[in-house]
Amino acid sequence: MTDVLNPATEERVATVDAHSVDSTRDAIGRAADAFPAWRAMAPGQRAELLRSFARAVEGDIEYLAQLEVAEAGHTISNARGEAGNVRDVLNYYAGGVERHLGDQIPVAGGVDITFHEPLGVVGIIVPWNFPMPIAGWGFVPALAAGNTVVLKPAELTPLTAIRLGELALEAGIPQDVFQVVPGKGSVVGQTFTDDPRVAKIVFTGSTAVGETILADAAKSMKRTTLELGGKSANIVFDDADLELAAATAPYGVFDNAGQDCCARSRILVHDSVFDRFMELLEPAVAGVVVTDPSLETAEMGPLISAGHLESVAGFLDGVDVAFTGSAPSGAGYWMAPTVVLPKSPSDRIVTDEVFGPVVTVQRFRDEAEAITMANDSPYGLSGSIWTRDVGRGLRVARGVDSGALSLNSHSAVRYSTPFGGFKRSGIGRELGPHAMDSFTETKNLFIATD
Ligand code: TAP
Repeated sequence: MTDVLNPATEERVATVDAHSVDSTRDAIGRAADAFPAWRAMAPGQRAELLRSFARAVEGDIEYLAQLEVAEAGHTISNARGEAGNVRDVLNYYAGGVERHLGDQIPVAGGVDITFHEPLGVVGIIVPWNFPMPIAGWGFVPALAAGNTVVLKPAELTPLTAIRLGELALEAGIPQDVFQVVPGKGSVVGQTFTDDPRVAKIVFTGSTAVGETILADAAKSMKRTTLELGGKSANIVFDDADLELAAATAPYGVFDNAGQDCCARSRILVHDSVFDRFMELLEPAVAGVVVTDPSLETAEMGPLISAGHLESVAGFLDGVDVAFTGSAPSGAGYWMAPTVVLPKSPSDRIVTDEVFGPVVTVQRFRDEAEAITMANDSPYGLSGSIWTRDVGRGLRVARGVDSGALSLNSHSAVRYSTPFGGFKRSGIGRELGPHAMDSFTETKNLFIATD
């Protein structure tokens, strides 16, 4: 049994049964048994079941959002958007089932065609920071491509995933095609990775755990998609709309209390506008509304747990804080948005993923140095570039080794565009028009006509 706590109040929200190795293996076995019928279902029927699932989520958005506020401390407006994202992803890939086309390739002496064959059972392991969308980015294209799914939510935030499992059944998704298996990573997650009946692991979480999963998955040659950490740069050039860049910078890093793998947690500013940028940034940071996340006005809630608060606070030991915003006191795992001026580029606050509401601001002298500094990280997930010179924006975007960049915005992940990281931020891409491919094997068939 695991207690789920509300991070804004420290009160118990629910108690959830944790699965054992044996019960996890049973779930994998049932998913394997359910696979042949699911893959054989007529594409139009599978698509209609996913649309029905989307309608069930649509009807439950407010309840799902309230669960997300209670277990994860997300602001209510974000939480509604996250539940809506699951619905949208279901509708998007429902449209893909009947359009998942193979190729017909010109060859001599016959006809050559390819098929997308589903893999079998897909194990999806989800972190606590965006419990609903990250689950959906995995399980929806996996199901659409004809696989069955076992999904492990994070121990701290299992409630929305459990509810999505119920909604799937209510919507008519056959029993055991989509199972939610709460429990510990070291038990349920490890069993997914070890069990040879699981054909693919989709893991989102820390780079450290991602490495062990990749190594363990190799033993049974499992396919993997890994979405891991980040330390993304927000590069502000001297010709940028400085007011807009400064006004939006806090939301590019402090959204979800900075517990976002895409957080633009390193602001790099051209030397000639550095002082002006800092003058503009200070009121913008002070203006971030950090409060009870169930309030409509909330822009940032608490951190996820006492342990995580301690870890984030530890990064501030000995650093120079330029200024902070505000945060409530009392019960809950609160931390004010914090802006740090690093002493050296090798400071831990610059090199390591903090995963909290902390941002560093550094100077650069020219375009080349901006790119070098942005790339001076083992990670490469996200980032932003602010300039009015579109040519420079494109050059810098091509030069930064990151999977998801935005020019003159801090765009969020879109379900219709690919998402994933370079370097130690991960392997593979989720979402976008090709996501179903990564849940299939390509089969080539030559048919002789001569
Ligand atoms: P992790 O500790 O890595 O946990 C992620 C998930 O993996 C949890 O469900 C966890 O289970 C499970 N897990 C732990 N050990 C495991 C094992 N040996 N085998 C299989 N599963 C295991 O990360 P976190 O603290 O939850 O999340 C924060 C990290 O995730 C950050 O580094 C962040 O950047 C990264 N992240 C990346 C992305 C993308 S899209 N790139 C998105 C969100 C988060 P428990 O329930 O037992 O903890």
